[in-house]
Amino acid sequence: MAESDEGRVEEEDRGSSTSGGGTSQGRLVVVSNRLPIVLTRKSGGGWNVEPGSGGLVTAMAPVLRNRGGLWIGWPGTTEWDGVEDALRKLDPSTGYSLIPVRLTREEEEKYYRGFANEVVWPLFHDLQSHCNFDPAYWDTYQNVNRKFAEVVAQHTGPQDFVWIHDYHLLLAATELRAMGVKSKLGYFLHIPFPPLDIFVKMPWRLELLLALLQYDIIGFQTMRDRRNFLQCLRALVGAADLCGRGQVCDIELEHDKLRLGAFPISIDYKWFASRAGSKEVAESAWHVHENLPDRKIVLGIDRMDYTKGIPYRLEAFRHLLRTNPELRNKLTLVQVVVPSRRGIPEYDALKTHIERLVGEINGEFTSQSGWVPIHYSYRSLDHYELLGYYRACEIALITPIKDGMNLVAKEYCASNIEENGVLILSEFAGAAAELQKGALLVNPYDVVRMSEAISRAYHMKPDERHARMRRLRRSVRKRDIFWWVDSFLEAAIAKNLDSFPVIADYVPDGAPDI
Ligand code: UDP
Ligand code: G6P
Repeated sequence: MAESDEGRVEEEDRGSSTSGGGTSQGRLVVVSNRLPIVLTRKSGGGWNVEPGSGGLVTAMAPVLRNRGGLWIGWPGTTEWDGVEDALRKLDPSTGYSLIPVRLTREEEEKYYRGFANEVVWPLFHDLQSHCNFDPAYWDTYQNVNRKFAEVVAQHTGPQDFVWIHDYHLLLAATELRAMGVKSKLGYFLHIPFPPLDIFVKMPWRLELLLALLQYDIIGFQTMRDRRNFLQCLRALVGAADLCGRGQVCDIELEHDKLRLGAFPISIDYKWFASRAGSKEVAESAWHVHENLPDRKIVLGIDRMDYTKGIPYRLEAFRHLLRTNPELRNKLTLVQVVVPSRRGIPEYDALKTHIERLVGEINGEFTSQSGWVPIHYSYRSLDHYELLGYYRACEIALITPIKDGMNLVAKEYCASNIEENGVLILSEFAGAAAELQKGALLVNPYDVVRMSEAISRAYHMKPDERHARMRRLRRSVRKRDIFWWVDSFLEAAIAKNLDSFPVIADYVPDGAPDI
């Protein structure tokens, strides 16, 4: 991709991945906990099935269409009447097949809610005190990984490249190898990999590590995650001489070799940049500001999740208003929280906590003139609303206490077509590695410095805002979601690792950038 002096991309038609990665002839088989669809009950019975809309499906769809392929996963329901028919009807429009894995209600409870979301999710985000290490979860997790493996084995041949995603399926390769499957197996972990001191708390730590060694290639979001994995491997398995110094390396194991890489996931930059410029999004952004006249908007958008750091962020906003009375009436925090994983106790408790804090802060500062400091919504947004917020807000406040990547940060930059927004970003988001030079990095636990960062963003001169945002946008544009798919698939077959670039790393050092 060529860039002019202004950092603008010279027109070049991307938008579809061309990589033949994995094997030269085989199909691509994507396996993830959820199929890339949205399934809803029709009022008169049966199902509505819509193709999913996330970055992963956008990136995979062209590769799957070009080289043929399948997507295997759970449709997100334990009610089965008519689901397979509904999925078959969707096939022609996606260009590839969707193969459902059936889960019972008990499996959903113990594998998805239980082991995946009450054990791996909190532990891998460094939050061991949120873990519920119930041995019954582990048994079901193994069984369900075997179930996924059975479906993969039934539908694939040795030439196919099987690409398995995320923390729900850490054991899938070991199950597949036990079934005699010979295909090349790739794995991408979308969440962080924890440091040794945290990982060793996992009662099944050795089983998990040994299972991961059965993959041919493992992709992590950042160099930090890859380093953590290697540290665990060296301490607990004793392996690992490295070969290759950049994005991709090989490690020598007792009988084999394992390839590891850092592949920061990204977004369809062009889609966000061009859609943000549409009339509908401009109108949506205009409405946001019309309702909040003469105020700068600080935006937070997150799934309802304790990893997103929402309570600390609210405390930082409260501290800002307490210590900078001149900013009252001038700033509004729009905090959108998207419902997620309802029914898991930690998630339900978090909702109550956040809503209490919002109530307290609004109670303390709402003014007679009608200014309400925090506008809080608990719902999902459609595309126009989401992009409208991205375009309208002057400051994005993205402060997870730990995050694999954080796509909202990248989407905000891509959509900020006026290039005048300020990104305040947690140093513990995977995205900090790539965005550290343009964002204001903060420690998401540091309420005082976060509030100072909001004040700095509020007062930042247009030249600095512009320069920082241009830098951010250039970085997201250069490594978009198509780059991500291509580089993973190329790494899976590459003979020479020297051609892979050095990937930006972030190592905390003194105080973050404010
Ligand atoms: N998003 C969404 N619905 C909304 C708001 C956001 O689907 O109402 C999308 C958002 O565009 C982004 C994703 O949810 O692509 C969130 O990804 P991120 O990596 O930031 O966090 P995750 O939820 O995966 O932890
Ligand atoms: C994170 C995980 C994904 C997961 C998503 C939504 O991004 O890395 O694997 O699909 O959260 O969570 P859910 O539990 O609703 O699938």
